[in-house]
Amino acid sequence: MTGTSRRIAVFGAGYIGLVTGACFAELGHRVVVRDIRPERIGLLNSGEVPFFEPGLGDLISQNKERLAFTLDVHEAVRDAEVVFVCVDTPPTASGDADLSRVWAVVDALRDASHLVAVVVKSTVPVGTGARVRAALDERGLGHVGYAANPEFTAEGRAVEDFLRPDRVVIGASDAGVARWVADLYGAVDSPVELMDVASAEMVKLASNALLATRITFINEIATVCEATGADIGHVSRAVGLDHRLGPHFLKAGLGYGGSCFPKDSRALRAMASNSGYPFQLLNAVIEVNELQPRRAIQRLKTELDGLKGRRIALLGMTFKPGTDDMREAPSAIIASRLLAEGATVTCWDPMAPGADGHQEPWSSTTRLPDPLGAMTDADAAILVTEWPELTDVDWPAAARRMRNPLLLDGRNLLDPSVLLSAGFTHMGVGRAT
Ligand code: UGA
Repeated sequence: MTGTSRRIAVFGAGYIGLVTGACFAELGHRVVVRDIRPERIGLLNSGEVPFFEPGLGDLISQNKERLAFTLDVHEAVRDAEVVFVCVDTPPTASGDADLSRVWAVVDALRDASHLVAVVVKSTVPVGTGARVRAALDERGLGHVGYAANPEFTAEGRAVEDFLRPDRVVIGASDAGVARWVADLYGAVDSPVELMDVASAEMVKLASNALLATRITFINEIATVCEATGADIGHVSRAVGLDHRLGPHFLKAGLGYGGSCFPKDSRALRAMASNSGYPFQLLNAVIEVNELQPRRAIQRLKTELDGLKGRRIALLGMTFKPGTDDMREAPSAIIASRLLAEGATVTCWDPMAPGADGHQEPWSSTTRLPDPLGAMTDADAAILVTEWPELTDVDWPAAARRMRNPLLLDGRNLLDPSVLLSAGFTHMGVGRAT
């Protein structure tokens, strides 16, 4: 390792906490990850990873001599030099971030006067760091440094994003603390952006909101393409070749989902509104994104002349491929709308957690183990998540099994000519067929 090996406590064994803990251990630090969920700590201590994330299990087992998991706050903090706060900040009914778990960690640090720094990685409204700083001061921890260090890891590539990031952002009012935290990333080869705490908090919210805006913008261009005969595939590719715009996040689809974009865009909108500025563009992004899966249902309804009594197959349920995460997945809106229209819904997904434990809408749908099974006797199929497995489906066989071979490719994954020659009616997003 380059740099000094430090003793780190990570609070929260969710996606962010576990990836942070495992990656810091990989960088040579000694890490204790603390969570309040006994079943989660139990799983981790028995060598299992509680969710799917490529490379994370290997990283945890390769670094097990430097990585411990505990329920006990004192065990986590006792020998630590720095505490990373990686707890979740779920939305409240008004869209604001619920910071109760962040405050619970701050409360737990009452006796941690030996710490060098407390670092918040959780996504929080701008101004949270200043409040945490004041709370630490009130608890007699004025000498403990504070830093905001937002994360930019995407699910499915979180380990890669942590170890080879585009940038490391550190916000701190004390330059010594900022450098100390930056040194923890020793072997990570990336620009380190040092700034004040509020700006670091804003970088995270602005990045996610801008990515969500790009996706929504291209989805709206796709809608106009459908109406005018242009093809979003050509448009996205050529637009993305402009070096000022770049090729990423220009894939039209059924709208963004997941645990971050929907939550963070609503949190930024609520924060702006609370500070007296109605964020009109972001408001429109959020509304358009909520409409996007509903538009797809409307197109299908028109094509099938009504959905009542129709059998519709959903191909893919997770919010994106390469994850088992169902949070804010467009598939849930699509299934609910179809059921409300009186359709029968079958579905397939290689990784979504079992249907039985699920609430509505999934308990009213039938889950099949393979795409062909889900499409059997269906009046239409909707490709919801671009799982690579779907490119290998025997499409002529699928057409023969369906009552009406119609596919709405909600992610423009498949080659329309393959489907047309298999006997399908093909509908894409933002293109004529
Ligand atoms: C996102 C960001 O990409 C990360 O940088 C960030 O750290 C993370 O949120 C977070 O805040 O923790 P993630 O939610 O895992 O990561 O997923 P993305 O790969 O960004 O996809 C989000 C959604 O946008 C998915 O539903 C995806 O299907 C959709 N999307 C993405 C599109 O519809 N079109 C695109 O071109 C790209």
